[in-house]
Order: sequence, then structure tokens, then C-alpha cells
Amino acid sequence: MDRLKTSYLGLSLKNPLIVGSCSLTNSVEKVKKLESAGAAAVVLKSLFEEQMLYEIRNLQQAGEYYPEAADYLQSYVSGHSVAEYLKLISDLKQSVSIPVIASVNCVSASGWIEHALKMQQAGADAIEVNIYFIPTDKYLVSEKCEALYFDIAAALKKTLGIPLVFKLGNHFTNLSYMVDQLYCRGVHGVVLFNRFYEPDIDTRNMSLVSASVFSSPDDLRYSLRWVSIVSAAVKEIQISASTGIANAQGVIKMLLAGAQTTQVCSALYKKGPALLKTLADGMLQWMEEHHYKSIDEFRGKLNYRNIANPEQYERSQFMKNFSNRE
Ligand SMILES: Cc1cc2nc3c(=O)[nH]c(=O)nc-3n(C[C@H](O)[C@H](O)[C@H](O)COP(=O)(O)O)c2cc1C
Repeated sequence: MDRLKTSYLGLSLKNPLIVGSCSLTNSVEKVKKLESAGAAAVVLKSLFEEQMLYEIRNLQQAGEYYPEAADYLQSYVSGHSVAEYLKLISDLKQSVSIPVIASVNCVSASGWIEHALKMQQAGADAIEVNIYFIPTDKYLVSEKCEALYFDIAAALKKTLGIPLVFKLGNHFTNLSYMVDQLYCRGVHGVVLFNRFYEPDIDTRNMSLVSASVFSSPDDLRYSLRWVSIVSAAVKEIQISASTGIANAQGVIKMLLAGAQTTQVCSALYKKGPALLKTLADGMLQWMEEHHYKSIDEFRGKLNYRNIANPEQYERSQFMKNFSNRE
């Protein structure tokens, strides 16, 4: 198993398999099971800024509050959610030996900094920032949208001493620029990509519903191209690949594309913690067949910089190969 050893954000990992942020990591019991099943680290379910703001608004609407009460209410709700979260971090640090990465969902650069600092004090090994800004204002220029990410990175970096990771979505005009700018502001790693809640339309009831929350192995391709391009363009930052990783082949592909680690979520919901051993065994078997003794020997071997025809990663149109397809 030593062959699978790797590191991420300066943390030693027994393998590159991290359980991504979701409800599978929201209790000590669950994380203990994941650790014994082979998880190398866990990312906790995000603490949501939006959710806390929503709870505060609900409480305010439910009763009649004097204006002075609003501030108290705000600090009570946020303090309450944060306190539970901090307790989970410190309980986990006493119960498991794998790294515990805390996750915050930010929609602004204010208010969050002190919570992230408390997570560090509670023992979090790193902070993952889960951020996705959906612009609906047609007059808002893209530079301003990007600046939101940069402001959050700069503010957190100024305060935190532990590694900082940004978990991104895949809709950027130039992702390599974004990642490079985050690196320049002191971000140590990026998760490519988050998979967000997406709306769907129920045509019978004419209403909005949730699209499937779980990924399929086919979704791997959305991350693969960008893991390859970004790992070549911004070599200094570490990439944790996420979305669609459901089997050992998926893990190996992401490492070949240049990922430092991989994160698994949907497949664990579907198959349970035992999947982690299947992934590790599959990796070992493939490494044996290809005579690799360590992951470093093949990481990035097929990324944008290292393949003979990198334009294959740039190709986005089907063109003639598929144009005659019936
Ligand atoms: C039920 C569920 C809850 C999730 N909650 C969070 C969350 O709180 N924070 C976050 O950053 N990502 C969250 N995610 C996204 C996952 O961490 C992951 O990035 C995404 O599902 C893609 O990985 P997968 O294909 O392995 O599922 C959640 C995903 C699922 C399915």
C-alpha cells in the first residue's frame, strides 16, 4: 500500500483518495468508517454562508424584532451553526488520524474570515473554500465577478496559517488565469470541479425541481481536460480532481492528467465506503501492470505539457470525425 502514498497541501496521505465535501463526512462515526475503509483525508460538509443568512431572515420574519435585535440574532444564528461545526472538527481531530479539511461556502469577503480562523484553531488541517457566484445582472462585467474570488482569497490568506484551497466550478472564461491569480494570492490548491445543485423543470407540474444531485462516471470528462491544462499552466498549485470519479480508472486518469489527489462523493453514496478499497486495489493492480512503484512516476504524464499533441486537449468541436455519424 506504500506505493499509493502521496502528499497534498503539505499533508502526508496514505493514498490519493479523499472523501469530498458532502453529508458523508458530517459526523465522527461516519468519518471513522471512511478512515477504516481507506480514505486518506476527508473534506467536511460546507458551512454555508447563504444558509445562515437565510435562517436569519426566516427568524426575523417569524417574529417582530426591534432593529437592535437584528445584530444579536445574526451573531446568535451564525455563532450557533459555527459552534457545532467547530465541535465536529475538534471531535474528529481526537478520533481519527487522517487530515480533516474544513469547508466554507462564501458569497462575500466579509464575515467569514473569523469563522475560518476558528476552524483553524479547532484543528482543521486546511480550509476549502466552496464558492460559486451566479451572475444574473447583465451589466456586471466579468472582471468584477472574478474580483470576488480574489478578494476572498486575499482576505483569508492574510488571516490563516493553514493551507487554503479553492473549490471551483467549470464556468470561467480563462480558468488558467483564475487559478494563477489565486496562486499569486497565496492559495495552495484548487478542486476542479465542484458539481452544483442544478435546477430542472417538471413539465407536468410546470415547476422547478432539482436535477439529479449525483454524478455519473461520464461526467469525469468535464474535469479531465482542465486538470490537464491547469496542471501544466500553473505548476505551483496542487489540483484535487473532483466529479465523476467512480472507479480506479477514473482515479488513474486524473493522476495521469496531473491531479495531486482525487475526491469522491457520488460513487460513495451509491456504493458505500467499501468502494475506497476497490479503488486502491484497482490502482495498485494498474501500477503493477505498468511497472510503477510510486504515483510520482506517472503523475502528469499525459497532461497538456507532456503529451506529444497537446492540441488534443484543445479540441472542442466534433468536426469531420463525427459529422457523418447517423
Ligand atoms: C449530496 C451532496 C452534497 C454535497 N454537499 C457539498 C457541500 O456542502 N460542499 C461542497 O463543496 N460540495 C458539496 N457537494 C459536491 C461534492 O463535494 C462533489 O464536488 C461533487 O458531487 C462532484 O463529485 P462526485 O462526482 O464524486 O459526486 C455535494 C455533493 C452531493 C452529492
